Amino acid sequence: MIECYNFQQIHKNEGVFLMEKNIRDILMNSIRDKLENIKNFEELNNTKISILGKKGFIKEQFKRMRELPKEERAEFGEALNNVKHEIESILTEKIKDLREKETQHKALEKSVDLSIPGAKRSFGRLHLITRVMEECVNIFNSMGFEVVEGPEIENTYYNFEALNTPEWHPARDLHDTFYIDENRLLRTHTSPVQIRMMEARKPPLRIISPGRVYRKDYDASHLPAFFQIEGLAIDKDISIADLKGTLEKVIKTLLGKDKQVRFRPHYFPFTEPSVEVDISFPQGKSGWLEILGSGMVHPQVLRNVGLDPNKWQGFAFGMGIERLAMLKYNVGDIREFPRNSLNFLKLF
Ligand code: PHE
Repeated sequence: MIECYNFQQIHKNEGVFLMEKNIRDILMNSIRDKLENIKNFEELNNTKISILGKKGFIKEQFKRMRELPKEERAEFGEALNNVKHEIESILTEKIKDLREKETQHKALEKSVDLSIPGAKRSFGRLHLITRVMEECVNIFNSMGFEVVEGPEIENTYYNFEALNTPEWHPARDLHDTFYIDENRLLRTHTSPVQIRMMEARKPPLRIISPGRVYRKDYDASHLPAFFQIEGLAIDKDISIADLKGTLEKVIKTLLGKDKQVRFRPHYFPFTEPSVEVDISFPQGKSGWLEILGSGMVHPQVLRNVGLDPNKWQGFAFGMGIERLAMLKYNVGDIREFPRNSLNFLKLF
């Protein structure tokens, strides 16, 4: 734009000194326009160089002054100088302008808008089952039970035979057990840990063993994979009163003193006598939920691990953690637990 208003054009078309009036005005307007639109220091520098630089527009005009008749040069030079000063002052203004904008921009970037709602940070937490499990473990710990673990892939000896569960027993039915091959299976209960511990250690023993167990089962109160805590106490004068007292204490600590606990005779191949424990459903639901099996360790089981049943006795139990969680948190369907819906889990 500026380039087209070179001195020659001004000189030829408009006579010698219209610069001061028309052409100068047009020129200045066009330069002003250009300067107005400058957005940053880089553009400003480029424009400055093209107008005021060594090879810029103004220098060019001064060079061409020689082409004018001598007597006109002074006046034209003065006019050109005025233009130059005017441009310089516009540029100085523009620099101020840009600096101001820059500081404003920086301040804005740094400033914190206190009216914007804060980012919500949601905290993770332990799964309900883990929590109930830990709570149970803590209660047993406080009563002197030590935590031990056993393998989830068991062999038939530890899962059945050593626990006095012969081939013909319904628990060995293919419908209940996930077999890996003829001799190996996913443990159907934590009771094999009893055998492993009695083999590995000398009595007296007081252990619990929390862990996952597997059965071919799936409905509102059964899962194919669920958690149990096995318990075993072996000593020289343990009676069924110890079993009852221990279980009652644990259940009431976990679920509250007002819970009704029912001991019901049952049969397990590895305990004699055997009892199952039921707990009344929370308000709004009627009936009982079985939460554990237990009993006095069968003399044959003691013999299987080389202990003399005339010298040693003990009690054992296996409790279902999901069932306890259902009672503690009033959950109607056991399948909620592994579903892992956050909507459900966040309720607790
Ligand atoms: N293992 C039994 C079950 O899973 C529970 C049990 C454990 C019963 C220990 C008696 C003694 O059903």
